[in-house]
Amino acid sequence: MKTSPIGIFDSGIGGLSVVEKIIEILPEEDIIYFGDTARVPYGTKSKKLIEKFATDDVNFLLKFNPKVIIIACHTASSLAGNTLRKKFPSIHIIDVVSSSIRKAVELSKKKRVGVIGTYATISSGKYEELLKKQRISVFSTPCPLFVPLVEEGFFTERATYLIAEHYLDELKKKEIDTLILGCTHYPYLKKVIQEVIGENVKIVDPSSQVAHQLKEYLEMKKK
Ligand code: DGL
Repeated sequence: MKTSPIGIFDSGIGGLSVVEKIIEILPEEDIIYFGDTARVPYGTKSKKLIEKFATDDVNFLLKFNPKVIIIACHTASSLAGNTLRKKFPSIHIIDVVSSSIRKAVELSKKKRVGVIGTYATISSGKYEELLKKQRISVFSTPCPLFVPLVEEGFFTERATYLIAEHYLDELKKKEIDTLILGCTHYPYLKKVIQEVIGENVKIVDPSSQVAHQLKEYLEMKKK
């Protein structure tokens, strides 16, 4: 490796949706990606276990001497973000939740935003807390089967449509104009989610935001 890499982790392949954007925006950077596929999903686990897994993930990445760590996982960002920042104060950590909030606030005209994510992310209440501070009405629902569907490569199968219709049925009645994909696995199901929720709902996938935030940080560090 030419320089210190960017360290990125997720519970599985979901975080690769963030890696793709980073490669697009910062093609010269080296990346170390860790997908904890042996222990996926994180979204059904307790806060304590998620904190432990996320700590293990960072410790693994630190062996490669990264210049920054990206938590490319909404579950780990929501439940372990604060703990990781306390445990590893010397490394800059970027998470996916704050980027999603910023983008949703910018896009939503009606101030009615939907959030879908894992059980752990939704029940952490993190999104509700942060969006309500911005005077936005939040409607959230967990979509746990989306993660195994993505891990199995079921991006546009009939079963995926049926499951998406089941999960999004209630949200469709809430007159939201923006929907946050609060799990990095979900961008792989974007086509299905967009069709089911309706073309008039704007979808927030924070990966580009995260890549831009990383770029800004690296530029600032150079100065
Ligand atoms: N991709 C992750 C997220 O963004 C985790 C999904 C899971 O392991 O349950 O939440």
